[in-house]
Amino acid sequence: MVGSVLMDRMEAERDFELIEPLFFSTSNSGGKAPKFAKNETTLQDAYNIEALKRCSIIITAQGGDYTSEVYPKLRAAGWNGHWIDAASTLRMNGDAVIILDPVNLPVIKNALSAGGKTWAGGNCTVSCMLMGVGALYKAGLVEWMSTQTYQAASGGGAQHMRELLTQYGTLNAEVRALLDDPKSAILEIDRKIIAKQRSLSEAETANFGVPLGGSLIPWIDKDLGNGMSKEEWKGMAETNKILGLGEGFGTPAIPVDGFCVRVGAMRCHSQALTFKLKKDVPVADIEAMIAADNAWVKVVPNNKEATLRDLTPVAVTGTMDIPVGRIRKLAMGPEYVGAFTIGDQLLWGAAEPLRRMLRILLA
Ligand code: HSE
Repeated sequence: MVGSVLMDRMEAERDFELIEPLFFSTSNSGGKAPKFAKNETTLQDAYNIEALKRCSIIITAQGGDYTSEVYPKLRAAGWNGHWIDAASTLRMNGDAVIILDPVNLPVIKNALSAGGKTWAGGNCTVSCMLMGVGALYKAGLVEWMSTQTYQAASGGGAQHMRELLTQYGTLNAEVRALLDDPKSAILEIDRKIIAKQRSLSEAETANFGVPLGGSLIPWIDKDLGNGMSKEEWKGMAETNKILGLGEGFGTPAIPVDGFCVRVGAMRCHSQALTFKLKKDVPVADIEAMIAADNAWVKVVPNNKEATLRDLTPVAVTGTMDIPVGRIRKLAMGPEYVGAFTIGDQLLWGAAEPLRRMLRILLA
C-alpha cells in the first residue's frame, strides 16, 4: 500500500522523468514493470543481489522482513549505493538517518557530507507530529511533550482497513431493521451491538485480534515488557533522532511520552499533544511559528466551526496538509500548551519523505 502511494506521488511530482528506474518484485519477477519503466520493462527479482547492485539508489517500501534479509547482503557484497527505506528496521542504526527534510534537512545534509548512504523514513505518527509542531522543537522551546494518539487502521496495513470496514458492515447489518424503525429502543440496539462485537468470528478479527469497529485498542505494535508498547517507545527515540538530539548527538534528549491508541479511522493518524514549554509564549506567537514552519502545516483556529471543518481525518485524508488546531494554554500553568494535529499516515507518514530524499540525492 505504501508502495502504491509512493508511485502515485512520484508520478504526480514527475520524479520518474529524472531517473532511469528499474523495478523489482518479491513475488512477480519476470512480470511487466509499471508504465514508468524506460529501457528495462520487466520486473526483476527483488532478492537478486547482483541485479540490485546495478542501482545507484534503491527505494523500498516492501517492509521490515525484506530489509532485514536483503540490506545486509547488499552491503556485504560491496554495494555502496543509497538505500531509502520506509521500514523501521534500520532507523535506529548509527549510520542511518531518519529522513523528514522539512524538519531535519541540516541533519540529512550533515550525514550526506559525512558519506551517509542509509536513509529511513520515520514512524508515521512521529513524522506527522513533527511536520505539524516541529517549529516548537526547532526554536528550542520544548521541555517535554506528551502525546495521546488516535491511529488509523491503515497503520496496520491494507488488510486491517478491510477488516475495520467489514466489522462496521456486520454491526450495521445486525441492527438495520431496528435503525430503520425510528421508534425502536436505543438500548436494545446497543445490547445487540455489544453482543455482536463480543461474538465476531476469528476471521472477522484476524488482523486486529479484537473488534475495532465501535471500539478502540490502546496498544500498538510489540509489548516491550516494561509497560510500554513499541509504538510509544518510538515517540521519544525517533523524535530526538530526527531532530539530531540525544544519544549519538551529544545533547540531552527531550522527553516525549504518552499512549498510542488504534481507532476506527481509515488512514489519518491524529494526536492530542501536551507541551511543557521552557517559557511562557503567547498563543498568537506559537500559532505564527507553527504556521511559518513549512508549506504544508495549517493552523486551524481554535473554535468549533473551524475544527469540525478542517481538523478531522475525513477532512485531511488524501491531502498533503498537516492541520494543527486546538492550540491553547492549559490549566496547569502558562508554560503548558495543548494542540491537536492530524496527518495522512500514508503520505507524510510514509511515502513522501522517501521521494523527497530521492530528490535531495538528485539535486
Ligand atoms: N506503526 C504505525 C501504526 C505504522 O501501526 O499505525 C506506521 O509507522
